[in-house]
Amino acid sequence: MSLLPRSLFGRTLLVLIAGLMLAEIASLGVNFFDRGSGVYRLGAQQTALRIAQSARILNRLDPRQRAGVIDEMNGTNFSVVLRRTPAVMSAGFDEHDRYELALATLIKRYLRSQWATSVQITSLGRASRPKNYEAVDTTPLEQWIARHFYFILPGAYSIVAQIRLEDGTTAVFYARIPQEPLSRIESLLPRLLLNLAIFALLGAAAVGAITRSLERLAHAAEQLGVDPEGKPLPEHGPSEVRSVIRAFNRMRLDLRSYLLERARMLGAISHDLRTPITRLRLRAEMIENAESRAKFVRDLDEIDAMAGSALEFFKSLGSEPQRHPVDVAALVGSLCEDWFETGRDVTVSGTGRAPYNCHPQALRRCLDNLVENALRYGGRARISVTDDGAVLRISVRDDGPGIPEQDLERVFEPFFRLEQSRNRDSGGTGLGLAIARNIARWHGGDIHLRNAPDGGGLIAELSLPRFQSRQRGS
Ligand SMILES: Nc1ncnc2c1ncn2[C@@H]1O[C@H](COP(=O)(O)OP(=O)(O)O)[C@@H](O)[C@H]1O
Ligand SMILES: [Mg+2]
Repeated sequence: MSLLPRSLFGRTLLVLIAGLMLAEIASLGVNFFDRGSGVYRLGAQQTALRIAQSARILNRLDPRQRAGVIDEMNGTNFSVVLRRTPAVMSAGFDEHDRYELALATLIKRYLRSQWATSVQITSLGRASRPKNYEAVDTTPLEQWIARHFYFILPGAYSIVAQIRLEDGTTAVFYARIPQEPLSRIESLLPRLLLNLAIFALLGAAAVGAITRSLERLAHAAEQLGVDPEGKPLPEHGPSEVRSVIRAFNRMRLDLRSYLLERARMLGAISHDLRTPITRLRLRAEMIENAESRAKFVRDLDEIDAMAGSALEFFKSLGSEPQRHPVDVAALVGSLCEDWFETGRDVTVSGTGRAPYNCHPQALRRCLDNLVENALRYGGRARISVTDDGAVLRISVRDDGPGIPEQDLERVFEPFFRLEQSRNRDSGGTGLGLAIARNIARWHGGDIHLRNAPDGGGLIAELSLPRFQSRQRGS
């Protein structure tokens, strides 16, 4: 199973938000390092100034007074000792050479010395550093961090600077360059969340607009197959979506004229078949052998019935170009009465909630076919209407033998009849269910057959979705 959201909306939003997160984290990182090194530079300048000023004061003082002043100067982050000879200093970290050089230049400038001097700087963290500073320095981990991220670790970067004074004494300064990270994760998080929220809102609105127009299109496509008479889809949304809608509307018109053309043609064929059938019927009278004549006439009747039902089907659709809101319970009621009047056992229960938008003649033909089957193969028909507001269901149940499970779908095929119906010579043409399903689908619905669980007959259920209410709900 894929972890990606299924909808275009979800996927696009996910990509946008993931992109934003990455960009935001990257920019936070850059900012963090950038600001960190800015603060570090400032600290370095301050330290250079302090070393230079201290060196100048010590240079002025009488050697006997120096010890007292040094006592006052020394603290945790800054201390100085005087030596007769310069200490041998190990080289600093390679990475910091440039930095140390810059620091030495800075100190020299701040010294403004007239006396010949040398300034030597090394970063701490190597083995042979002056003994007296060892206590202050760091663990190996801190040293590693200091080496690579010297501007992040608070107070981790320490230097030693040796300055030779005028009288030949060497002043050795130890300084920790003060450093506190400016940005903390705790303060970055709210910013990240705020950005995400803004972006998710805007992104959802933008992506939502696009996917909504696609949804409308999908919805229209779903209705198209069943109701070519519907209005064209309004061209809304971004240009790409609009051109899809335009192409779709064109296709819909083409399909509609194709469907109508097909219906007209088949209707015309069934209609024109009638004349030769009638002629054949007359000629059949001339067949002398009575048995042959009867067979011939029966075949003709069958052809006639097929042509007749095909013709009526296409007529029923062609004569009703528009749908109307219809009180389905009343329609079923009158259908039931008509059957009842011919002495058939048909009952109705239940009712629809609201008028249903349909082609009433076609819908009546559809139900008629179901009831006819129930009566013919099952003796009686019990119709029940249920309506949950989204789908209107009309089921027709009988007391007959039902249909073997494997044939429940096949009986919808045109001209398909079960073996015993053929033998019983019950007079159908095998088109009834095909026509009924065609009409159901024309309305966006469908028909399904199932055998009643207790073995008592067949249940044919016609389900008709209410597209209008679905559109409003979505
Ligand atoms: N209520 C039913 N009970 C049993 N069999 C049925 C029922 N409805 C339809 N059938 C079977 O499905 C076949 C196809 O039905 P249909 O398409 O209406 O054609 P027709 O009724 O003209 O034969 C029927 O011939 C019959 O064998
Ligand atoms: Mg039938």
